[in-house]
Amino acid sequence: MSQLVDSFGRKITYLRISITDRCNYRCIYCKPEEQFTFIPHEEILRYEEIIEIIQEAVNLGINKVRITGGEPLVRKGVVDFIKQLRKIKKLEDISLTTNGCFLAGYAEELKAAGLNRVNISLDSLQKNKYRKITRGGNLERVLKGIDSALKAGLLPIKINTVLIKGINDDEVEDFIRLTLERPLNIRFIELMPSGEKVTDNYKGKFISVLEIKESLVKKYSFNPINTSSGNGPAKYYEIEGGKGTIGFITALSQHFCQSCNRIRLTSDGKIRPCLFSNQEIDLKKAIREVGYTKNNQILRRIVIKEKIKMAVKLKPKGHKIKEWISNKISFKMSRIGG
Ligand code: 5AD
Ligand code: SF4
Repeated sequence: MSQLVDSFGRKITYLRISITDRCNYRCIYCKPEEQFTFIPHEEILRYEEIIEIIQEAVNLGINKVRITGGEPLVRKGVVDFIKQLRKIKKLEDISLTTNGCFLAGYAEELKAAGLNRVNISLDSLQKNKYRKITRGGNLERVLKGIDSALKAGLLPIKINTVLIKGINDDEVEDFIRLTLERPLNIRFIELMPSGEKVTDNYKGKFISVLEIKESLVKKYSFNPINTSSGNGPAKYYEIEGGKGTIGFITALSQHFCQSCNRIRLTSDGKIRPCLFSNQEIDLKKAIREVGYTKNNQILRRIVIKEKIKMAVKLKPKGHKIKEWISNKISFKMSRIGG
């Protein structure tokens, strides 16, 4: 039984963990083109710290975790980290979000370490456009990464496609066709104001995924499917005879806060009750203050539990993202981890 129930009766069972803010890509919607600074190494949680936190979160009722970044596969030791995670009893599902660049070399190892599945970011199926969106990424490598993940059985594979007006909205049907041939779950995601300053530029690039869905439903005969993954924000469909599925994540045009079951841990050790709220609980500071002698392990565990409970209590009812956009507030997705 989960002890983590927020002030609005939502049961919190899902923790997303960013293990690094570093990334080998600089996607146009995530990172600015000019020089930017990373969080210093000593401020990033060590793997042992993350494992300890997850163990306590699981003791409180978390049963599902997702490893994110930045790009999680750029952090050394990630396979061993997943092996450690796998040892935590009652942790049912371990998944990872990646840009796919290094996946071909890692898929088998990750599977063997105990990773259940991956989400892969892929915003274009055209080589040059892909390079432009990611500022230097190589489409071939990601496609190879997807093949390797399929082969390794990191299933189901979800493909995250952020729709950007005038850039990749002409490729929607190409992505849909991909689900006819391959067992991939494509998810169209609404662009969020992350990374760069919110400007009119952002507004010009936003597309309502709901509208895209409506136009597609008319053209293709989509069968809605009930997913077992429960409270995920996407609505899923399949095309008869197709191997994969199509999902729509309408983070902005439709709220799914009501059924939100997640909290986040940032790479620098803050618990975020909501992606779209700047409220954070500094867990790292609290545990490092307690310190790491053998005798105070119990105290550290108590502190971790208290901080997690506190973050859950602070979880807001819904997000205020539209107000943020009008007030030109952005947030750093690469630190929070999507
Ligand atoms: N808008 C929407 N999704 C984003 N992601 C990162 N930045 C944004 C943004 N500004 C998501 C993408 C990517 C994952 C790592 O985070 O879906 O696949
Ligand atoms: Fe890297 Fe993901 Fe941000 Fe792209 S969206 S720069 S792949 S962290």
